[in-house]
Amino acid sequence: MSLDLAESRQAPSAMTQDQPAIEVRGITHRYQTGRGEVLALRDINLSVAPGRFVGLVGPSGCGKSSLLMMMAGLVRPSEGSVAVAGAPVTRPAPERLGVVFQEASLLPWRTALENVAFPLKLRGVPRAEREARAGQLLHLVGLKGFEHRHPHELSGGMKQRVAIARGFCQDPPVLLMDEPFAALDEQTRMTLGDELLRIWDRHRKTVVFVTHGLTEAVYLCDEVVVLSGRPGEVLARIEIDLPRPRTWEMMATEHFGRLREQIWSLIRRQA
Ligand SMILES: Nc1ncnc2c1ncn2[C@@H]1O[C@H](COP(=O)(O)OP(=O)(O)OP(=O)(O)O)[C@@H](O)[C@H]1O
Ligand SMILES: [Mg+2]
Repeated sequence: MSLDLAESRQAPSAMTQDQPAIEVRGITHRYQTGRGEVLALRDINLSVAPGRFVGLVGPSGCGKSSLLMMMAGLVRPSEGSVAVAGAPVTRPAPERLGVVFQEASLLPWRTALENVAFPLKLRGVPRAEREARAGQLLHLVGLKGFEHRHPHELSGGMKQRVAIARGFCQDPPVLLMDEPFAALDEQTRMTLGDELLRIWDRHRKTVVFVTHGLTEAVYLCDEVVVLSGRPGEVLARIEIDLPRPRTWEMMATEHFGRLREQIWSLIRRQA
């Protein structure tokens, strides 16, 4: 799989265009706990087309992270299944699907560059090649000059940028992001959101983005999936028909406000 950093926008390949990038079929999930069973998700069906940027929102505890872990093959659902590009997900497959979590989870003893290049190292990509790719991505997320710093020398926002660069370095067709900006201040979130959109626009990966930020969801996504309170069920799928590229000025428009309000009113009723 090649990482194309050319300026041109990459279209999803013709072969995969009519097949969903992610297909969730009838997922119901129960966790077994010391105090009995917790029904976390109920009958989730969701199909995501290749190259789409899809948001996943819903009240705390409704099963967003659980659903993402099932898409990633990290948790096996009690019932139902997930397919990525038509192939069933039964275990983690980092070459098909990358995950960026809320906590940057970098390797502390490795530099920013080594952290970003790590997935390629695991795939046996030669050092010069993987470091060249990692360097380009660090540049893209605004970390040129920080390549040789260790995580403890970086701010929270910088670490999150490294984690995002690593997600893209892995170069999977699908990227799952679980509240990747949650620990950051508003200004850093907005800036990183723009950086994420810029990289996504070049690489056109399929992204599933979990967030509690409704403004962030509307700003970033093509579509926002709203889950109900636990057990999580799909309440609505809201198409975000704002033009791209998105600009901060759009947030002040009536249309943006209406979309945000539509999502909020659904979530508010769950409280
Ligand atoms: N390993 C586990 N064992 C038992 N229960 C769990 C486990 N993981 C999650 N749960 C329960 O499943 C439900 C869904 O959890 P999950 O973390 O997926 O929600 P979430 O939507 O990501 O919440 P948040 O917005 O707070 O991150 C919660 O009620 C939670 O307590
Ligand atoms: Mg969560």
